[in-house]
Amino acid sequence: MTTTAITNIGELVTNDPRADDLLGAIEDAALVVDGATVAWVGHASDAPAADEQVDAGGRAVIPGFVDSHSHLVFAGDRSAEFAARMAGEPYDAGGIRTTVAATRAATDEQLTSRVAHLVAEMQRQGTTTVEIKSGYGLTVHDEARSLAVARQFTEETTYLGAHVVPDGTTPEEYVALVTGPMLEACAPHARWIDAFCEAGAFDADQSRAVLRAGSAAGLRGRLHANQLGPGPGVLLACELGLTAVDHCTYLTDDDVAALADSGTIATLLAGVEFSTRHPYPDARRLLDAGVPVALASDCNPGSCFSSSLPFCIALAVREMGMTPPEAVYAATAGGAAALDRDDIGVLTPGRRADLLLLDAPSSVHLAYRPGVPLVAATWVSGRPV
Ligand code: NIG
Ligand code: FE
Repeated sequence: MTTTAITNIGELVTNDPRADDLLGAIEDAALVVDGATVAWVGHASDAPAADEQVDAGGRAVIPGFVDSHSHLVFAGDRSAEFAARMAGEPYDAGGIRTTVAATRAATDEQLTSRVAHLVAEMQRQGTTTVEIKSGYGLTVHDEARSLAVARQFTEETTYLGAHVVPDGTTPEEYVALVTGPMLEACAPHARWIDAFCEAGAFDADQSRAVLRAGSAAGLRGRLHANQLGPGPGVLLACELGLTAVDHCTYLTDDDVAALADSGTIATLLAGVEFSTRHPYPDARRLLDAGVPVALASDCNPGSCFSSSLPFCIALAVREMGMTPPEAVYAATAGGAAALDRDDIGVLTPGRRADLLLLDAPSSVHLAYRPGVPLVAATWVSGRPV
């Protein structure tokens, strides 16, 4: 196996849990890759010999971003809906049905090429692992093919048949479909199951039924909750011991206490609040209570059509009370934890060599220089892509 040493790294973010600082940062560092994995990290002067050398030129190296929440399988365009919102209309989750109609009408090839385009767009911005949900098909056939499309790009696929109740069916009939024949068709293509627990979508009992059925079929649970207003979703996620609960925009003190007790990760999706003009989630309140936090894009055509984790980091620092290191950690190791993955999000020996070279001397620049494309190179499994 060829070894490659990246030397002359200004700041290396390892996220090493054994370090004294959150990011496990090493200055004047080097990192040696052996095949697909990290073989060594430390001070450049101590670096072992390697077959190949890459000079980072004093730039920062950080783990690749782990985007634990996206909805990339869709067709159509809802930019007019966004423009109307910016002119004063509220966000309406019913817009999901517009995308459902366009997605059902698209061919597998059209959906696949759209996902390929978005995954490439994410990779250019430093995302090396992405979770992708279904949820714009809402028939047995369209949910299963959405997941089959997503599976071509990631192992982290999520069955979100419970996104909204489609036209022409009752909530009772639809939950029976989602927990029955649709689950059977989708489970082979999915690792996770999710539901949109929100007024106008699914209530706590319906969401619980969906998550329990998924668990019985071998899927792990995650949940959309407390996005548009206070609700029962966060408590449900904690009750069921889900890996992650996503959005967490409107939280009561009980919600925060339950999150702190359960260890369920709160995934904050600040691009949504940017694009819907809802208030930003209070990351500081969660962190101060000891709740583990992840940042993800929620890239989707309705509530947030941004695929950029650097944008989320900048928002989290500027608007949500996170320090730059907390935000960088939440978009890397935090995302990995939200996907229950211990092979990514951290750059220590044995972990996958998914990493970014930044056109900046430190990771602080991700928030300090918002909107600037700082990702100079993205490496996946030990190779530049
Ligand atoms: O995560 N909340 C539910 N689903 C998406 C939005 C879907 C849409 O508007 O198309 C979200 O925000
Ligand atoms: Fe979402």
